[in-house]
Amino acid sequence: QEDIFKNVISHAKEYGYIFPSSEIYDGLSAVYDYGQNGAELKKNIREYWWKSMVQMHENIVGIDASIFMHPTTWKASGHVDAFNDPLIDNKDSKKRYRADVLIEDYAEKLNQKAQKEIDKAKARYGDAFNEEEFKATNARTKDYLEKKDAILKRMAHSLETENLADVKALIEELGIADPETGSKNWTEVRQFNLMFGTKLGAEAASAMDLYLRPETAQGIFVNFLNVQKTGRMKVPFGIAQTGKAFRNEIVARQFIFRMREFEQMEMQYFVRPGEELKWYEFWKETRLKWHKSLGLGEEKYRFHDHEKLAHYANAAADIEFDFPFGFKELEGIHSRTDFDLKAHEKFSGKKLQFFDNELNENYVPYVVETSVGLDRMFLAVFSSSLKEETLEDGSTRTVLSLPAVLAPTKAAVLPLIKRDGLPEVAREIIEDLKWDFNVAYDEKDAVGRRYRRQDALGTPFCITVDHQTLEDQTVTIRHRDTMKQDRVKISELRGIINEEVSV
Ligand code: GAP
Repeated sequence: QEDIFKNVISHAKEYGYIFPSSEIYDGLSAVYDYGQNGAELKKNIREYWWKSMVQMHENIVGIDASIFMHPTTWKASGHVDAFNDPLIDNKDSKKRYRADVLIEDYAEKLNQKAQKEIDKAKARYGDAFNEEEFKATNARTKDYLEKKDAILKRMAHSLETENLADVKALIEELGIADPETGSKNWTEVRQFNLMFGTKLGAEAASAMDLYLRPETAQGIFVNFLNVQKTGRMKVPFGIAQTGKAFRNEIVARQFIFRMREFEQMEMQYFVRPGEELKWYEFWKETRLKWHKSLGLGEEKYRFHDHEKLAHYANAAADIEFDFPFGFKELEGIHSRTDFDLKAHEKFSGKKLQFFDNELNENYVPYVVETSVGLDRMFLAVFSSSLKEETLEDGSTRTVLSLPAVLAPTKAAVLPLIKRDGLPEVAREIIEDLKWDFNVAYDEKDAVGRRYRRQDALGTPFCITVDHQTLEDQTVTIRHRDTMKQDRVKISELRGIINEEVSV
């Protein structure tokens, strides 16, 4: 698994998807740049999300709020007081870790042990196997799962009640060691705020302390009334937004999974009080379906219902994805109650309410939010699309089988050779197709090598111009995943490509 992950990172760099930030100065930890192909893939994921959330829902609109916000926003939202990670240092190695992550990783190992027992029994009993019954009755499996639940529950409770001494006690009781050195010599646990601070204004004395937003959601809450009134929105309705967020994360070599500067795609759905759990279930299912529609494999997703709730939520679940380093959070769905709007009412002194004609009453709406990391989506799509295939003749090829709708370049046009007028015809095809798709031209190397390069770049189609093209206006179109080639008329190309790359 570690090798697969290394391969993902090096492929992303070699093919112009992701570079370490400011690499000529040896990079900056947990900050990355998207290259020429990465920027396209990222843009396509963002658009795919935006279309499905905003364009496809009459009652959801999109905004673009700024990164800087009035500092009281973060007092009201609870981030100044509660947006903390519990940190612990190892006294021998001097390495710093998130105490909750150390405990969660330990719990996940118990979960994997239980899963192993379940898989063994499944293989033994076949169709007759009942997983729920097995989990409840098989002593060893039950023991693993109960222990896992008890650990997570105790951790959630200790963090909620700010009992950091108990978090440390739990780490010691479980015998958790520094993952890198094996040492069990831990410091106390302490809270660390994740927001980045900066200053607005030139005069040091009068400068205002600002934060870089740690989530895009607050830009939506403070605009709730602006959008509701100007858009004549009626509850239930949603406001969507994509944009950068910043967190001073303690990170351990996870590539773009956990970054200090990243992008979120969020939607806040405003509902009648009392209806929030219905909408919470609705958005859980809707978002899972959206992920599955990309075709990366249904088995790669699972829900994780939260024991440990963030300071604003009354119910929360993650959609987890099977990344190269195991199942981890991809998207969060949170029932945020009226926590945010009420807090902004209190701190701003402005009413943030909706008059419901049907009920003939004013209320502060409840909020269900869906929040997915764009960079995490990128990693999910990229890592699960990268494959090494052994072909019939025994040779191997590297293929990046990105969903066609997301691929940076939809087609490469290749003249078979560099003379006899073939490059000119290839250019003409590009001039025609470029109005609708990103298309590339490549005439370097033998055509077989050019196919391989486009496979590794994730280009769904290769269009080859040969001598027959000059006679009958046909070309070959090669499909990336099947490597099948068809002879088609140039005039048919747009339709064929369109069929595969449109949603
Ligand atoms: N408004 C709610 C919110 O921000 P969150 O669970 O803290 O909730 C939502 O974040 C999503 O943002 C996560 O599921 C993840 O995909 C992404 N995300 C959070 N922190 C991240 C980081 N440091 N790097 C990359 N993505 C991150």
